[in-house]
Amino acid sequence: MKRRLAALCSHGGSNFAAIADAARRGAIPVDVVLMLHNNARAGAKEKAIARGIATEWVPRKPFSDEAAYAARLLEVLEQYRVELVALAGFMQRIPPQVVEHYAGRMTNIHPALLPLFGGPGFYRLRVHQAVFAAGMKVSGPTVHLVDEHYDHGPILMQRAVAIDDCASPEEIAARVLVEEHRLYPEAIGLLAAGGFRLEGRRAVRIA
Ligand code: GRF
Repeated sequence: MKRRLAALCSHGGSNFAAIADAARRGAIPVDVVLMLHNNARAGAKEKAIARGIATEWVPRKPFSDEAAYAARLLEVLEQYRVELVALAGFMQRIPPQVVEHYAGRMTNIHPALLPLFGGPGFYRLRVHQAVFAAGMKVSGPTVHLVDEHYDHGPILMQRAVAIDDCASPEEIAARVLVEEHRLYPEAIGLLAAGGFRLEGRRAVRIA
């Protein structure tokens, strides 16, 4: 049975597109029913429209406090009967009420091998600048379950990518992004099929 998924995006949405295309090909047991964005100019919106996927704009600013923002997010997600939530370049903190409601069913992708180069301040090109400055020879994407801390929840999947021949953070970013578009649909497909069990903070593959 297909699980109903919403992707949450703030920018270009290339990971969202990779998930939606894998779902449309029938490669993963998922129906992408919504792309929710907090940034009115998110490029992900065009990608959703091109794929016939509904979009909802839910900016943080108009809400007096986090509880009101959380209530609106849950209202929209329940309106679309969303079962799984995939953060795909979503730059707004997810309120604890929403994290709790979707515990074990909300994922995030981070463009480095967590727990290295993750947490507050590590986002977009900054991640790759830190990886480059550290002289790392490998990097790669991490897909993890979302908890109340940035880039902290149980790791579902990671993949190492050789970067020793990359001459700049931008080259690292481009190489890791290619792997992100493979890894994120794969991890979501396994999660949707019940392919992980949690042992404390560890996610163990069972399929
Ligand atoms: C990706 O590199 C992802 O790992 C990070 O933000 C970027 C989003 O890219 N969290 P896109 O919007 O999916 O193209």
